[in-house]
Amino acid sequence: MTQVYFNGHWVAPEQAQISVFDRGFLFGDGVYEVIPAFAGRLFGLDEHLDRLGRSLDQIDIADPLTRDEWFAIIKRLISECASPDVSVYIQVTRGTAAKRDHAYPNPAVAPTVLVSGSPMAALSEAIRRDGAQAITVPDIRWSRCDIKSINLLPNIMARQQAVAAGASEAILVRDGLALEGAASNLFAVIDDELLTAPIGPHILGGITRQKLLDMIRGQGQIPVLEVPIPFDRLFDATEVFVTSSTRDLLPITRINDHPVGAGRIGPVWTALNQAFQQLKTVQVSP
Ligand SMILES: Cc1ncc(COP(=O)(O)O)c(C=O)c1O
Repeated sequence: MTQVYFNGHWVAPEQAQISVFDRGFLFGDGVYEVIPAFAGRLFGLDEHLDRLGRSLDQIDIADPLTRDEWFAIIKRLISECASPDVSVYIQVTRGTAAKRDHAYPNPAVAPTVLVSGSPMAALSEAIRRDGAQAITVPDIRWSRCDIKSINLLPNIMARQQAVAAGASEAILVRDGLALEGAASNLFAVIDDELLTAPIGPHILGGITRQKLLDMIRGQGQIPVLEVPIPFDRLFDATEVFVTSSTRDLLPITRINDHPVGAGRIGPVWTALNQAFQQLKTVQVSP
């Protein structure tokens, strides 16, 4: 098993120990990032580290490492992971305080920093051929979904409901709007336009989402609008897909057991996915 970076040291995962008073363990008081590398090359490194910096800033934790230090750690993990496609996980918690108290420790304590790498799982043959299923569930999350917080209980419960229903993703619905997936952003083709929810406190600004939007605006494959997707209009969509760093553009061909459009992977997804795969080979960090 590849070593992990833990508070300044490289150790085997089972040797990395946190205190029971770590605020991540007690309160979920921390944030995380997931950065993909394809064929050994990082994709969207700066954007992911920028988002990590924003998440930390929003919860008043000083970024514990410089950009060069993050980069060196991440590079080492990728080179040691026995897989060409790797997902790098970063977690920073507020650290370990002397006692359990909701308020921040004063003076501040050193944050707990974990960075690990794991092989990225490939999509199943069936999903690549037929697309994936999704269910819709009420969005019971808080109002700062733009912070990539390690508090993931609502996301976990939603994803588990999807898995129990034989689906790959749960689409979260709040106030009549289909916002995003439990761990992905949502796109729908309705009336020949591609729609995705606008950035705001009710979604996580996905790096894959942004890279895809930039690509489409540069290449002009389809008109794209950042507008809320009404839940009932989701069922008028001819195509639906979700995006994330570890699943790229995942085509959704059934929602709540109804076919999306023709119930097959469609031409918009096919064209965008092809262009996106191309982008991944050219827009890489060292
Ligand atoms: C709630 C949520 N939305 C969207 C995303 C997609 O973000 P990204 O494309 O940066 O992986 C994720 C990724 O984990 C997520 O958890």
